[in-house]
Amino acid sequence: MKILIVGGGGREHALAWKLSKAKKVKKIYAAPGNPGIAELGTCVNILASDINGLVRFAEEKKIDLTVVGPEVPLALGIVDEFEQKGLRIFGPDKKASRIEADKSFAREFMHRFGIPAPKFQVYDTASGALKYTKTISKYPVVVKASGLAGGKGVFVANTRKAYEKIIDEILVQHHLGEAGKRIVVEEFLTGQETSIFVLTDGTTILYLPSSQDHKKLYDRNRGPNTGGMGAYAPYPTNRRVSSIVEKVIIQPTVLALRDQGMNYRGVLYAGIIITSLGPKVLEFNCRFGDPEAQVILPIIEGDMLEPLLAVADGKLGDVEIKIKNHWSICVVLASGGYPYDYRVGEEIQFKEKLSTKTIVFQAGTKKEDSKLVTASGRVLNIVTTHENLKVAKQKVYSEIKKIHFKGMYFRKDIGNSGMKKMKRKRRK
Ligand code: GLY
Repeated sequence: MKILIVGGGGREHALAWKLSKAKKVKKIYAAPGNPGIAELGTCVNILASDINGLVRFAEEKKIDLTVVGPEVPLALGIVDEFEQKGLRIFGPDKKASRIEADKSFAREFMHRFGIPAPKFQVYDTASGALKYTKTISKYPVVVKASGLAGGKGVFVANTRKAYEKIIDEILVQHHLGEAGKRIVVEEFLTGQETSIFVLTDGTTILYLPSSQDHKKLYDRNRGPNTGGMGAYAPYPTNRRVSSIVEKVIIQPTVLALRDQGMNYRGVLYAGIIITSLGPKVLEFNCRFGDPEAQVILPIIEGDMLEPLLAVADGKLGDVEIKIKNHWSICVVLASGGYPYDYRVGEEIQFKEKLSTKTIVFQAGTKKEDSKLVTASGRVLNIVTTHENLKVAKQKVYSEIKKIHFKGMYFRKDIGNSGMKKMKRKRRK
């Protein structure tokens, strides 16, 4: 089989790595890919947002399965275009992708179908959003751009003044362009966050390992938000919470999507916060998480080809997924200064050979005169797995000592929340 992976980050490297293990896979292409994926297949210079270019490429190369990594091509309708041409593709269609691409739609959908979520209001104008301050009894509140903003569309306002500034920047000065034409103002919730992933063909639901992302730049969840500084899996959710997530969030959502005539075939990613009143949905995404894919794929048995094909063909009922009894940790090595200004073009050096069990997924890298150099904010994803979370953590951090690039920054506490939770569980 010939596979095309759309995208070029760490998540897409992880997808290519997993699929490359399938005996039936003879060739992997990635558009645009990255130097890590180039070691597993061929990267082609087509952007993930160039839907016509991707359709032409898939037709020309007779691609058997296209797997879409990022949300933008899904929101642009890549699945609709591929299916019109009879090309097999993994991912929800344009209408169903609104669950991520249109946050006001997603919140109204959750409200309508009784999916637990924060209280919210939707505004198109600054005057409406400002009038709302009269009814805000306590800060912080969360302001979200309704459209896709590349991870830069969520703001926490700690005071009325901060709220007014955010409203001005989004709805008056249009800092986020089209993505911020409409906003959602939400109740601020506190609790541990977990990312839940299921494969669905619209009918059958298969659970993948849960995970916890670390979005803040600094240890102990401080500092600015990033695209994710690391993750571990599985997230040790207790049985009561898992059952609520399954019965009150995931099952009704998949059912409601189908009842609303949406062709949801792909991965549904629920960003959940476990509040004192139970789990609630912070957001739905229509694709694998990044860096969560980098930790969940290594602990799934097998190569994932069969489940992904079955989703695309609407035959997921025929498939089983087995999860290894392992923990997996991913630490993101970032360019110093990220998520603000940072330098690129720094040479990445492996001072010592890494253990053969360590997995390196490349994210923001490029080849320059045969050297591997940094090309973006999040550069490398270092992943280890082990039966014991503490050992997995020790291994990942000792492997990182062997890697160097100028300005390299990483969090030191990935996995700590899981270890604390496991300790409390043992004490009970
Ligand atoms: N891990 C956050 C995201 O993929 O959106």
